[in-house]
Amino acid sequence: MAEMTPEQLRLLRDVFQNACGFVLRDDLKFIAERRLAPRLEALGLRDFGTYQRYLRFDSRGKEELDVAIDLLLPRETYFFREPAQLTTLVDEVIPRLAQDAIGRSLHVWSAGCSSGEEPYTLSMLMGSHPLLKDWDIDVLGTDLSQKALATARHAEYGPSALRSTTPEQKAQFFDLAEQGRVKVKREFKERVRFGWLNLLDAEGARLLPSMDVIFCRNVLIYFDTETRRRVVQLFSERLRDGGYLLLGHSENLFSLTTKFELVQLSGDLVYRKPRL
Ligand SMILES: C[S@@+](CC[C@H](N)C(=O)[O-])C[C@H]1O[C@@H](n2cnc3c(N)ncnc32)[C@H](O)[C@@H]1O
Repeated sequence: MAEMTPEQLRLLRDVFQNACGFVLRDDLKFIAERRLAPRLEALGLRDFGTYQRYLRFDSRGKEELDVAIDLLLPRETYFFREPAQLTTLVDEVIPRLAQDAIGRSLHVWSAGCSSGEEPYTLSMLMGSHPLLKDWDIDVLGTDLSQKALATARHAEYGPSALRSTTPEQKAQFFDLAEQGRVKVKREFKERVRFGWLNLLDAEGARLLPSMDVIFCRNVLIYFDTETRRRVVQLFSERLRDGGYLLLGHSENLFSLTTKFELVQLSGDLVYRKPRL
């Protein structure tokens, strides 16, 4: 298998960082070698130096970059991930949203939604919430992996996606499919839309509606500080005043922005865009 020299790793890191923010750290070298080596073989390229030049300068480089990003970026996700945070959403955030929403509609964005488990979880929790009965709930899932989005749109999952789902939730929100798989029930699938969006693309994000809640969990950790700042700025533009931003448990806005206030709820900490 081809090995990556430190210089090739540095050049590839630049390519991925510019394209999608992902930092190809030194400790990911072996994973990158293993996952990208078949691409060298498929394209008839002799080493990773030639591969990085192909990505940058070849007329098919952009296409290949999408393939490489799909192979490299972590896409780990599952239904009802981080249950304590979801309990806070249900018990404390939703009642606040229901109280101060204008009209009976909510826009929710799962940014970096991978194969759809997170936006469907949000659809399930909001769609079955007694305070939101007959509300119009619109959940948007975006990602830059076309492969992940295709799985999301199909809405059928195997057992590993249900590792944090209780038997009661399984019965309430899923239909059984073949070979131990499940399908998201129609009423919870219907209110979720998916779209391709690179979070570095501020112009593209401006086309999205104003959001009441943004979930961006386990995405910022892969970016450097400057990219996090850019993406968080984009969230502050897309969130309505008084709207909530929920990050993954190992992520925070410390030293990134002053545009959000940290709200201590009884179950968890969440961010809110202050009202002017
Ligand atoms: C580890 S998954 C997290 C999925 C889900 N949010 C969760 O916490 O279960 C990270 C996702 O972020 C996506 N991602 C990474 N960089 C991105 C970018 N620049 N724009 C859009 N999506 C990105 C990846 O493709 C991947 O699907």
